[in-house]
Amino acid sequence: MPPRSVTIIGNWKMHQTIAEAERFVAELAPLMSHTSHHVGLAVPFTLLAPAAKASAGTVIAIGAQNVSDYEAGPYTGEISPAMILDAGGAFVLVGHSERRRLFHEDNAVVNRKLRNSLQVGLKPVCCIGETLEQHQSGKTHDVLRSQLLQCLDGLSANQIAHLTVAYEPVWAIGTNRAATPEMAQETQTFCRSVIETEWGKRAGERITILYGGSVNPNNAASLLAQPDVDGLLVGNASLNVDSFAKIVLGPI
Ligand code: PGA
Repeated sequence: MPPRSVTIIGNWKMHQTIAEAERFVAELAPLMSHTSHHVGLAVPFTLLAPAAKASAGTVIAIGAQNVSDYEAGPYTGEISPAMILDAGGAFVLVGHSERRRLFHEDNAVVNRKLRNSLQVGLKPVCCIGETLEQHQSGKTHDVLRSQLLQCLDGLSANQIAHLTVAYEPVWAIGTNRAATPEMAQETQTFCRSVIETEWGKRAGERITILYGGSVNPNNAASLLAQPDVDGLLVGNASLNVDSFAKIVLGPI
């Protein structure tokens, strides 16, 4: 089997203006011209069209950080998967822990968002991860198994083979306490085994599993060196061109 390609996604959360995003992409794009990694930026909705325009013809893909679980209709304030595609977004983060915690998204909502996105050709990145309390009480595997089974319920083996999952332990997000490479490897091997048991060997081998949570230029390479870490989801360190480029390009 050919090795899985590496994917690095920046998650800007609620940061950046249009002018800042355009400048960021203009500075980042030339630095990325020789990388073989997939590079993406998950931006606020207001930046989708300008960032997509600025990154046209480069290796940088633009995506959203959230999507409605409805397709269209009287849902004031919502943005559909088709609208994200229309604005130039190629992918969308679904079920980020901040959305689960602050906006009460559960696995059933995440599942609807995933399915609706896939239906129109928008690539979802399904975020999962255990809280500190679940981690400390030894429930990590149970939590991740049910998140995977419930979030991905109803997807075909072929859809799973092309899917991206981001394992982000909640206790590692924004805390400067990333999981060790060994912990990320152990947990992501477990996630892969759940996929394999449920959707078959090929789906388990092909699915892309990212690690996220306090990734920075100093720990990125050792995390990426793990065989079951297929890439990174980067929050804070993706807001600066220099640190994001160092994460993608590795130690020089
Ligand atoms: P962080 O955020 O890199 O700032 O910890 C990661 C994320 O929330 O996706």
